[in-house]
Amino acid sequence: MKEQLLKLEKEALLELKGINDPSGLEKFRIKYLGKKGLLTAGMKKLKDLPAGERPEAGKLANVVKGNLTGHFEEARERVASGKAEGASFLDVTLPGREPLRGNLHPVTLVIKEVCQIFSRMGFMVVKGPNVELDYYNFEALNLPKDHPARDMQDTFYISGNVVLRTHTSPIQIRVMEAKKPPVSVIAPGKVYRRDSDVSHTPMFHQVEGLLVDKDVSFGDLKGTLTSFVHQMFGSDTSLRFRPSFFPFTEPSAEVDIRCVMCGGKGCRTCSHTGWLEILGSGMVDPNVYGFVDYDPEVYTGFAFGMGIERIAMLKYGINDIQLFFKNDMRFLRQF
Ligand code: FA5
Ligand code: MG
Repeated sequence: MKEQLLKLEKEALLELKGINDPSGLEKFRIKYLGKKGLLTAGMKKLKDLPAGERPEAGKLANVVKGNLTGHFEEARERVASGKAEGASFLDVTLPGREPLRGNLHPVTLVIKEVCQIFSRMGFMVVKGPNVELDYYNFEALNLPKDHPARDMQDTFYISGNVVLRTHTSPIQIRVMEAKKPPVSVIAPGKVYRRDSDVSHTPMFHQVEGLLVDKDVSFGDLKGTLTSFVHQMFGSDTSLRFRPSFFPFTEPSAEVDIRCVMCGGKGCRTCSHTGWLEILGSGMVDPNVYGFVDYDPEVYTGFAFGMGIERIAMLKYGINDIQLFFKNDMRFLRQF
């Protein structure tokens, strides 16, 4: 009896190994574990044994049954998960699934390109804090409290003398406080204003530029920014310097480029003027040097600040600034 049971177990396990499909499994179950199966039949014979042998044989029969049932369940899982030995469930001819790859945001791309262009001209990239003291954002830029020009930029106040910076110009002051001339830096970053429509968002990006040395002239400003525009938009892009006002530069000029949408004929994007403003600039006002202990009799310099989203819109032909911040993947994947 004992030998018979062990032989049955051995044969059954061997057979089970070769089964790779559900119907084979079912046949196996009926053959060995079913009501009329071999194991059940073997167990029925137990009662014919001499009383002395019955307990031991009964125990063994139960062990074999447990063993076979366990292996049967395992085989069932193996078949269900498609890992049957020798079976080929991997179709190597199917085209692969491409993993999703991220790409840089258009604002990031433009910041990188602007920084590259100015780095090649010898400017160093620096950063400044987003949460800024009134002193750096306004006061040291020749904008005392109650100066009417503060209205040009609707400010988010954190407290009486702490603001979210409204432009990257406070970095000019921080750089000049820390280092004597010559300085030539550019500073990209986020800026904040209470402003929102198709060409304005409450948070946007600027890149600030500052160059101070002996004998720096308005000609240097024009040459530097002309070279930048030609590298950014192509050497056939015309530009113009239009007189303007900023409290921290004198004289000041805003730079317009020929409308990239209509080539200057006049369209909705350029409000039918043929020109688009991309940045503000000027010669550093001597009053500003007073705040950073530079001698205005010895040093002169120029500064500029450009809106990155504005430049990205012109470069990629985007007509709504809000698109940059909606996180619509269909928009962002194009860059
Ligand atoms: C300034 O912010 C000055 N700090 C620029 C400057 C620097 C002048 C150094 C002189 C010397 P303005 O407010 O014009 O200037 O903003 C500069 C650029 O930021 C604009 O030409 C425009 O491109 C962009 N800009 C302004 N407001 C918004 C806004 N709400 N959303 C998106 N872009 C804006
Ligand atoms: Mg402006």
